[in-house]
Amino acid sequence: MELFDVMHTTFSGRAYTGDPLPDATLYRILDHARFAPSGGNRQGWRVIVVRDVATRTALARLTEPAAKRYIAQVQNGENPWNTVDPPRVDAATIERTPPPPHLTEPLLKAAAVLVICVDLKVVASTDQNLDRVGVISGASIYPFAWNILLAARHEGFAGTITTLAVAEEPRIQALLGIPSHVAVAAVMPLGRPAKTLTRLKRKAVQEFTMLERWGGAPLAPAAS
Ligand SMILES: Cc1cc2nc3c(=O)[nH]c(=O)nc-3n(C[C@H](O)[C@H](O)[C@H](O)COP(=O)(O)O)c2cc1C
Repeated sequence: MELFDVMHTTFSGRAYTGDPLPDATLYRILDHARFAPSGGNRQGWRVIVVRDVATRTALARLTEPAAKRYIAQVQNGENPWNTVDPPRVDAATIERTPPPPHLTEPLLKAAAVLVICVDLKVVASTDQNLDRVGVISGASIYPFAWNILLAARHEGFAGTITTLAVAEEPRIQALLGIPSHVAVAAVMPLGRPAKTLTRLKRKAVQEFTMLERWGGAPLAPAAS
């Protein structure tokens, strides 16, 4: 596929045909993804390839608590899990909110699940002393995760960056024997997509650009 086609059509694949993802294809996908950037080129990524049904079931179960809160907050008109506005839903509401199947089932139905980890001993987290949630550390792992999805798209496969299970990171570490200094960045189901979506909903450039300073005029579309 052409680069721009891949960029415009790499959707979140959550439903799969049941076809296998052969090791040779997965190897090829990762062999392209590894060219992602990372701070200081430290390449702290580690990937656990999970096919075992019991392990995937455990990962799906670990997704449920965060999925319940996510949906409860959405139903309450909130931006779920954001660190700026405190949640306005109580524990009882979260507890009685069922986790929707589309947030857990992909982990059971995908051909493989990649648990994408990052070794925090090699990540330069330059925002660690700021009074806000860290975002810089993610920049050393998510370009790699996204490269996996781009390469998978090129190979006719699809998947999703999922992060809900990470709310239960210590339990994922215990399940998979991951050391405590290694963070789980994403749990990524991958498979042959049941349907290929090509019209992704994204904001126009004018909606997120500002010239020179916050609040400045948007970048205008190029005159053709
Ligand atoms: C940081 C991050 C976390 C995400 N977490 C989840 C998740 O836990 N579960 C899920 O189904 N999708 C998750 N997604 C996928 C988003 O929902 C998806 O990228 C977005 O809805 C756009 O979907 P589309 O590409 O199909 O248009 C996540 C995406 C990102 C980038």
